[in-house]
Amino acid sequence: MNVQFIDLKTQYEEVRDILDPAIAEILSTGAYVLGKWNKQLEDEIAARHGVKHAICVNSGTDALRIMMQAADIGPGDEVITTAFTFVATVETIAQLGAVPVFVDIDRETMCIDPSKIEAAITPKTKAIMPVHLFGQLVDVKAIQAIAEKHNLLVLEDSAQVIDGHHEGVYTGNWGIAAGISFYVTKNLGAAGDGGMILTNDPEIDRRSRSIRIHGMGRERYYYDELGYTSRLAEIQAAVLACKLTKLDEWNAVRLDVANYYLEAMANADLILPRTYPGNNNVWHQFTIQTTQRDELMNHLKENGIASAIFYPVPIHMHEPYAHYGNGKGSLPITEIVSEQCLSLPVHQHMTMEQAEFVAKTICAFVGEKQGSHA
Ligand SMILES: Cc1ncc(COP(=O)(O)O)c(C=O)c1O
Repeated sequence: MNVQFIDLKTQYEEVRDILDPAIAEILSTGAYVLGKWNKQLEDEIAARHGVKHAICVNSGTDALRIMMQAADIGPGDEVITTAFTFVATVETIAQLGAVPVFVDIDRETMCIDPSKIEAAITPKTKAIMPVHLFGQLVDVKAIQAIAEKHNLLVLEDSAQVIDGHHEGVYTGNWGIAAGISFYVTKNLGAAGDGGMILTNDPEIDRRSRSIRIHGMGRERYYYDELGYTSRLAEIQAAVLACKLTKLDEWNAVRLDVANYYLEAMANADLILPRTYPGNNNVWHQFTIQTTQRDELMNHLKENGIASAIFYPVPIHMHEPYAHYGNGKGSLPITEIVSEQCLSLPVHQHMTMEQAEFVAKTICAFVGEKQGSHA
């Protein structure tokens, strides 16, 4: 049996009947940028998340960069975040001249550990950028409490967590702004790059819309601040709006697969991902930890099962970011998780037979937890 990591062709087949005419219309009318599909996508996602403003941009990376600029993050400001993330989180902080400050993660959720944040706060700290990793929100209430106590902004890296919420309050409402990614492999993926900023703040909305077109202000060819070219193409917005009609159904399959994995591997000798109470988890990734990570990955490959390592080297151990951190050994949980993490197939077109095959193959390889009586 073959188990792929993602199935983009089937995603397309499922929306083809509405998507093909939409793209043909865009091409024939010439309405290529910032048109009706952008507006529809912004309105629908704002409504799903219960936020006042949603702004389409060209990538998740741009969403982070633009929303931070709109929140006045700039040179010398310290932004507390995690090193167990995709590089864009830290890259965008650094590109604005701000200083990323790394805090270690919780072993089982793999998200920033709130109990370690206060020790990292200095008079220069301006914001916390939690990364809602692998499909679930961080411990949002704990982080919000720290931010309130120290008068810090919360800027959510929500790249991996469209539709994620805690007790019904969606991402985009826990911080002053949130950035979503629509990269191809995300739960809602474009046919290329795409992203979105969510916010309830009218000034962040206004400035983000301006920054995405070179800082152009209320009048054409008059500029208020430095900006970027970061429009979302109408074709991408149409792909996303069409796929959005399937997102609930697709996330339900991911949840079934993840729940099956949790049950089937409960006694296996590995660390399973933990979801914080009150969070939904949209299971962008299902990431286990094992001391035999590389051997297991090879074994899965030999059995036709795809898997992936997110992330093999934490950000503070990459040369361009090393000077922001305190080097190897400074974030012990982050470093051990990077050595042991393995993400398994969890996508909307998997069958339960495939999930069963994956879980059985893993259980047979790693064996039972010591002391397990099941
Ligand atoms: C945690 C995180 N932040 C930011 C990004 C950047 O998004 P994009 O690839 O759309 O620029 C990603 C995308 O992979 C991500 O996973």
